[in-house]
Amino acid sequence: MKFQAFNKNIRNKNTEVLSKNIEKLKREKNAVILAHYYQEEAIQQVADFLGDSLYLAQQAAKVDNDIIVFAGVHFMAETAKIINPTKKVLLPDLKAGCSLADSCPPDDFAAFKAKHSDAIVVSYINCSAEVKTLSDLVCTSSNAKKIIESIPKEKKIIFAPDKNLGAYLIKETGRNMTLWDGSCIVHEAFSFEKILSLVKNYPKAKFIAHPESESLILDIAHFIGSTSELLNFVQKDDATEFIIATEAGILFEMQKRCPEKTFIPAPIEDDTCACSECAFMKLNTLEKLYNCLNEETPEIQLNSKLMDAARVPINRMLELS
Ligand code: 13P
Ligand code: SF4
Repeated sequence: MKFQAFNKNIRNKNTEVLSKNIEKLKREKNAVILAHYYQEEAIQQVADFLGDSLYLAQQAAKVDNDIIVFAGVHFMAETAKIINPTKKVLLPDLKAGCSLADSCPPDDFAAFKAKHSDAIVVSYINCSAEVKTLSDLVCTSSNAKKIIESIPKEKKIIFAPDKNLGAYLIKETGRNMTLWDGSCIVHEAFSFEKILSLVKNYPKAKFIAHPESESLILDIAHFIGSTSELLNFVQKDDATEFIIATEAGILFEMQKRCPEKTFIPAPIEDDTCACSECAFMKLNTLEKLYNCLNEETPEIQLNSKLMDAARVPINRMLELS
């Protein structure tokens, strides 16, 4: 057997053993695993609930398990903890952050908000608990349009932290919002020129994009939507080839649901890599997931005052969704 094939066999065996042990621990500890589509395939396969940010927040509000393992990034696990203050919420790697959340430091945002004191503050769920406490409403990319449209027309709106999603929402809703200058490094990495040439090479393919992408990318997209909306689109649409501008992890579920269709990750500027991966999301591994469930650490811990204040705009979002 060749060395590479031998290594692959060992990896598969390890994955199998870890997955079985995770299943066992889940039963013993009455734990549930919530995983985002951007997680590695092996994690997606052991998840009890796999979905986009909104779906996972909704599931976090429903589950009655003692332990929630959140296979995603910090703000997602933090949201699950805020919704479930008495439960143990674990994140396989506490360093799994988010460039969007990091682009909005709470003190700077409080000063920004003070300059627009008459505005309603809508924050994308990709932000810290502290920024949520400064918000009237939280939204995800699945429900952002609905949330913005729920605000009376005469009200001014601040939207944070994603300027790309914000600009897209201004176009979609016709609302004139003041935007915070934040962005996602993954969705800003796509190369417009390379996408154009890929579209030429695949004339029958549909190009679809997540609204965290820049406007020149969104302007040439056949369809724009959250990860779950992109997933629904590729299942329903007649096309058999799709070029996807979002984190490449979603391609695993797309291929699983549509084995006969072709999915091509949109190219990024960096020539050393073909697809766009979120380094934060990929900090979680199956092994870290096993360890965190086994040792019940690292755990998300927040003070109750912060959680009480951040829960208000999250609950408003869940009620409106
Ligand atoms: P959705 O899962 O809401 O589409 O968001 C994508 C994302 O960037 C999560 O961090
Ligand atoms: Fe944050 Fe972008 Fe990674 Fe999503 S893909 S977690 S928005 S850095």
